[in-house]
Parts: sequence; structure tokens; C-alpha cells
Amino acid sequence: MGNYLLNNGVLLPKVGLGVYQMKNEHEDAIIWALRNGYKHIDTAAFYHNEELVASTIKKSGVNRKDIFITTKLWNSDHGKRTKQAFEMSLKKLGTDYIDLYLIHWPSPKYVESWLILEELYKEGKIRAIGVSNFEQTHLSDVLKHGSIVPAVNQIHTNPFLQQPDLHNYMVNKNIQHVAWSPFGHGNKNLFDNPILTSIAERHGKTTAQVMLRWNIERNVGVIPKSVNPARLKANLEIFDFSLSDEEMKQISTLDKNKKGFVNPDNKLFLWATTLLR
Ligand SMILES: NC(=O)c1ccc[n+]([C@@H]2O[C@H](COP(=O)([O-])OP(=O)(O)OC[C@H]3O[C@@H](n4cnc5c(N)ncnc54)[C@H](OP(=O)(O)O)[C@@H]3O)[C@@H](O)[C@H]2O)c1
Repeated sequence: MGNYLLNNGVLLPKVGLGVYQMKNEHEDAIIWALRNGYKHIDTAAFYHNEELVASTIKKSGVNRKDIFITTKLWNSDHGKRTKQAFEMSLKKLGTDYIDLYLIHWPSPKYVESWLILEELYKEGKIRAIGVSNFEQTHLSDVLKHGSIVPAVNQIHTNPFLQQPDLHNYMVNKNIQHVAWSPFGHGNKNLFDNPILTSIAERHGKTTAQVMLRWNIERNVGVIPKSVNPARLKANLEIFDFSLSDEEMKQISTLDKNKKGFVNPDNKLFLWATTLLR
């Protein structure tokens, strides 16, 4: 599937398995994924499944060092709690290093937390540090106050929410764009969209595969979630076709730039989630 070269020389697998809302009953799906080509798992302290990720890696028989683990600092752990939260993630993941540690959201103390991530990175406990859901203003703040450029910004991205300005800003600053909810959390309107379905038919692929391929054509990483082995397999089969310039142009017309309640411009959401654990 290949990798993206992050700005500190670390390689990030282009496709990862998103495990948001996965629970113990989905253990088999994660093990299946690990044994069948997935090299990257995207979890978070807030998903409350880091221990499940650890146990599935163990049970899969795949070597820890062959898996790229992303996890995230939750909103209620910013500032003074950052180090403790990181140590807790390490413990739950049963590992002594994290491949990619992200600040989950730009909660009020994000600059303070970023400086602590820089310290942890310098101590060698994290291979790459980055952020998630950061807008241009948050990124420029971090660039101004910190000494390390975030390796990744993981943001909500799908054909209805393309984020072109933020994407271009990140390309410019050498910050890797990773798309969360690449299927809009299973949005039926995306799967049934006539432009996407006709492109899929032309290539003998599914709409889901076209959505993932569209990201790859833009050099964006993807972390689709599935608990179904057939769909897990299909979500990796996106490297045997490509989209033409005309098809990319057609998809670019689908952008609605519409964000829901859960978005980094919503100060109420950012503040309220600092109270959630
Ligand atoms: N940083 C953040 O703030 C943030 C926020 C949200 C999500 N994320 C990350 O992004 C990951 C993915 O996002 P998501 O979980 O919201 O949803 P998603 O990947 O956009 O969509 C998942 C949905 O699509 C279905 N699906 C998967 N593959 C399919 C295929 N090939 N054909 C048809 N349907 C398919 C899944 O059903 P089945 O499982 O039944 O296949 C599920 O209902 C998360 O797991 C998490 O790791 C990060």
C-alpha cells in the first residue's frame, strides 16, 4: 500500500484501520485486519479501546514493531495532565513507544499541551507528534510557539467536506493530511452519490474505494473503519487503479464545506468536551 514520508523522516502507512466505537466484540475484525495487510491502527484515549488494540496485536501474532500505532490526547487531559495521559496510553497499549501521538482537538490549552508533546518526543517515547482537528489558526499558533512542526493533522475529510484551503496550507508547511471519517461515518448520501457511483462503475470499483482513492490521489492518508472482513479487504484494494484529472475535477464539485456540531470552530463543543472523560 505504501507510505507517506512524514516531515521527520518517519513513514506513515497510507491506509490505517480506524477503530472508533470498536469494542471487545470486534476483536476478530481487528485481528483479521492485522493479519491481512493493515499496518496502521488509529485509536485514541477517548475511544476507550487502547487495551483492546494491545490484546489484538498480541493475538494476531504480528510483531509490535511492524504496526504503526496512532493514539490521541483527549480534551480533558490538556495542560498539566498531558504527561500522565500519555503514560496511561502507553500502559493500556502495552508498549514502550507510540508511533504517532496527536492532540485530539484544539481544546483551550492546546499550545501548553503541544510543548509537552515536544518534550515527550525529545525523550524518544514517540516517533512522531501531530495534531487533529486543527484549523489554520491553531496550526499557526503551534508553529509560532513551538519548535517542532506537527508531522500530521488528522481532519474530517470526505468528498462533501474537502477542506481545500486547510489542505493547501498543510502541504505548504509539510504537515501530512490524514482524513478521518473518509466515508462521512457511513453517510448513505455519499455512497449513493451519482458522480461517485458512475466513476466507481467505470473502474469496476465500489463507491467506497473511489472515496479512498480520491484521498490517495491528493496524497492524503485514510483511516476507514470497518468490522467486516470483506469490506476491510476492499478498503485496501485501492492501489490498482487511479482517477483521471477529469474525475478529480468532477469530485471537487461535490464539496459542500458543511461541518456538523462536532467541529473545531465550535467553541462550545471544545469547552464542553474538556469535561468529558
Ligand atoms: N480525529 C478525530 O477527531 C476523529 C473523529 C472521527 C473519526 N476518527 C477516526 O476515523 C476513523 C473512521 O471514521 P468513522 O469510524 O467515523 O467512519 P468511516 O470510516 O467514515 O465510516 C465507517 C462506516 O462505513 C462502513 N464501511 C466501511 N467500509 C465500507 C465499504 N467498503 N463499503 C461500504 N461501507 C463501508 C462501516 O460499516 P462496517 O463497519 O459494517 O463495515 C461504517 O458504518 C475512526 O474509526 C477513527 O479512528 C477520528
